[in-house]
This record gives sequence, structure tokens and C-alpha cells, in this order.
Amino acid sequence: MDEPIRVGLMGLGTVGLGVAQALAEKADEIASRVGRPVVLQRALVRDLSKARDGAEGVSLTTSPDDVTGEDIDVVVEVIGGETPALELVQRALHRGKHVVTANKELMAKHGPDLLAHAAEHGVALRFEASVGGGIPIIAPLLRDLLANRLTTVHAIINGTTNFMLTRMAREGQDYESVLAEAQRLGYAEPDPAADVDGIDAAYKLAVLASLAFHTVVRADQVYHEGIRRLTTADFRYAAELGYGIRLLAIGRLIDGAVQARVHPAFIPVDRPLAKVEGVLNAVELEGDLVGWTMFVGPGAGPRPTSSAVVGDIVEIARSMASGSRAFDAPPLDRGLRIATIDEVETQYYIRLRAIDRPGVMATVAGVLGELDVSLASVIQKEPAQHDGSAEIVATTHNAKESAVRQAVERIAELEVVSEVSNVVRIEEGKG
Ligand code: NAP
Ligand code: HSE
Repeated sequence: MDEPIRVGLMGLGTVGLGVAQALAEKADEIASRVGRPVVLQRALVRDLSKARDGAEGVSLTTSPDDVTGEDIDVVVEVIGGETPALELVQRALHRGKHVVTANKELMAKHGPDLLAHAAEHGVALRFEASVGGGIPIIAPLLRDLLANRLTTVHAIINGTTNFMLTRMAREGQDYESVLAEAQRLGYAEPDPAADVDGIDAAYKLAVLASLAFHTVVRADQVYHEGIRRLTTADFRYAAELGYGIRLLAIGRLIDGAVQARVHPAFIPVDRPLAKVEGVLNAVELEGDLVGWTMFVGPGAGPRPTSSAVVGDIVEIARSMASGSRAFDAPPLDRGLRIATIDEVETQYYIRLRAIDRPGVMATVAGVLGELDVSLASVIQKEPAQHDGSAEIVATTHNAKESAVRQAVERIAELEVVSEVSNVVRIEEGKG
């Protein structure tokens, strides 16, 4: 057989170890698919003394030059984060190495520059694992769906929060106890902010929306709101109204502008996305030719993620073995405007606590009406508490986000209202 294609691995943590093991386990199949063996040459780590079960036989280094040097053909970055990953990937591209990364933060913040950099050097930059773990979604956007004009992306792309929301809905558990459970099971980090505040999903949506709408959507242009404010009461009311609650990543092309937002959303229980439970991820797309299509699968974990990373390595290795060097950057030159959250129009659920006496509902409805926000339903279930207050839940028809925000501010200031407890967008959607 011909000379091997040599991989330099940056990072040997959860994903890196999964990649090392998949390359070893599937060496024969990969060699027969590529026509040349693909071997793991070396792995870059931070701490050489760390115990690494399952990494026996992997040659380790702490020097980045050892995984970007003469004896490396493809660099795989699975360190994560921005520093030092950005500098290391830039160095690898500059040295003419093909790069595979699983790093959503890197791709969300620097993807367009890195892709242009790779194209200049005639090398590939592949990032299938950066969104949705094992779900094939980047390649379909880069190839199979290119004939479409895509108008909608609806995605559940954070497994940790989907696990937590599923538990809250099914078991009636509160936020703190499901977070503790997610941490115990290793889904949520000790500092859970990136997951529960929607930051992780916002990075992934920046990548998806850029590819779907052929326009650079920067990470800081994605509006994000997390799940910390959701309580068991919200899940009870959602169920009563016929909705499930999901942390939804939404990309939409409306009136020539791209909306990109991540936030908790009420979605009808019979929608396929409402049936995506636990740590699963799903991406739903609408295109003018394909109609609605949905991709579902495991969004994390060493084996599913290695499926995506090794798939990218094999694709590059096949091109190298066949002598083809067609590594173009994806089209991101449509230059569409990115809309702000204030421009969004959707329906809303508003839960508040107010004095239980005649005329209060009319006052609240009056404020909404003045701002052109029309009520769709009102529920007052709980009897008045000792302080004379009761919980009121209202849903609206389609309304402008800016108007709803203004109305909610005014309602919170009403003398008869003690608090606006939560406001959640309702996404009736389709698909
Ligand atoms: P991880 O378990 O924390 O592993 C990170 C690895 O990078 C470790 O081996 C660490 O070395 C090494 N590293 C960290 N800083 C370094 C430095 N300055 N120099 C050299 N090596 C350094 O992370 P992970 O969960 O595998 O995630 C890796 C990437 O994959 C991230 O971008 C993540 O978003 C993405 N991803 C993860 C999953 C998942 O299921 N975990 C799924 C999809 C995508 P030591 O071992 O010596 O500490
Ligand atoms: N923290 C991420 C999640 C892991 O919960 O989906 C994969 O990016």
C-alpha cells in the first residue's frame, strides 16, 4: 500500500480520544476507502503526566510544532475555545496543512477568515463536528442543499439544556435539581453558563445561519437568552396550552434580512421538534426545492463526534489520495442584513402576578392594546394568595418584539401588578 496520510491531533480529551480510538479501530476500513492508510502520528496535549485510559500507543507532545511539521498532512483541532486554538489553526493553515476542527466557538468567531485563509493556501478546512456532534448537517448545507433558497433553520443544538428541559417537563423537577443532575451525569460543566445561557447554541447557530443564508452571521449578531428563568409553573401552563418548551435556535430569512436568535420557545406538542428529547439534537430546514427536512441525532459524546471528525479526515484523505485539490471556501458573499431582536414578530406567553380584583385584567389588556399587542388567551388558575395576588397567564397573537418589550415594562410598573414572572416566545412554526 502507498505512503500513509499522517494526522496531527491537537487535543486528546473527550473528542480527541474518541478520534484516536476510531482511527485505530477502523484503520483497515479507512485504508480501503481512501486507498492509503491514515495514521495518527502524534497528539498535542497540555499535561504529559495525565493518565489517559485508551490512549496507549499514542505518541504525545506538548509542542505545537510537532503536530504541524513536515511529517503531518492533516491537523485535527479538538482543543476547543478561542485561545490557543485560533493561533494553532492559523499556523497549520499557513504551513499548508489541511485542518479538521470540532470547535464551534472558533468557527462562529473566525470561520469566514479561516476558510478564506485555507482557500488561499489551497488546503481544506472542515468542521462537520462543530454543530450537532454526530449529525451530518454541515456537509448537506455545503453540498446537497446548495440548489435551494433556504428560508428557515429551527434547531435544538444544545444537548445539555434539552436534557434539562425534558426532565423539567416530564418529572416536574425544578431548574436547580435538573442542573445538578445534568452535572452529575457529565452533560453540564461545573460552570454551566455556556449551555444554560444559550451561548453554545448561539455559536452553533452562527455557523448554521452563515451557511444556510450564504451571509456571514457573526457570533455577536446572534441574540441569545438562556433557560434560567423557566420554572415548573411555565411547564405546567405550556402543557395546558398544548406546547412543549425547547431552547430553540432560529435562523430566518424575512424581507431580505437574516434573523438569528436562541431562546426558550413554546412549540406545539405535535411538532417533530417537540418530540426531540433528552440529549438529542435536531436541525429542521426549509428550502424552496426540498420543502421541510429534518436531521436528528446525537449532538455530543466521543463516538458520535468522532464519526463527524473522522468523516472529514477521510474526505480530505480521499482527495489527497486521488490527487484532487478542490477545496473551495463555501459561498458566504450574499451580504444580507442581520436583523435585530426588536424586529422579530412572533407570539408571546406572559406570566405575571397581580392583585385579584375587578378591572385588573382590563388594565393589563389596555396596556397591551395601546401598543398594538392583541391578546389570544388569558388564564387565571390559582386562587388569590394571602397577599391578595393571583397568577395570570396571557398569550398574544403575532406582535412585534419591541412593542411587547415596551408593554411588559409598563405592565411591570402598574400598581396592581407585583411582578412579571416570565415572558416566553411562542413559535407555532411549521415542519
Ligand atoms: P476536552 O475534553 O476538554 O479536551 C481538550 C483537550 O485539549 C485536552 O486533551 C487538553 O489537554 C487539550 N488542551 C487544552 N488546552 C491546551 C493547550 N493550551 N495546549 C495543548 N493542548 C491543550 O474537550 P472536548 O470535550 O474533547 O472538546 C473539544 C472540542 O470539541 C471543543 O471545541 C468542543 O466544543 C468540541 N465538541 C465537543 C463535543 C463533546 O461531546 N465533548 C461534541 C462536539 C464538539 P490535557 O488532556 O493535557 O488537559
Ligand atoms: N455542551 C454541548 C451540548 C456539547 O450540551 O450540546 C456539544 O457541543
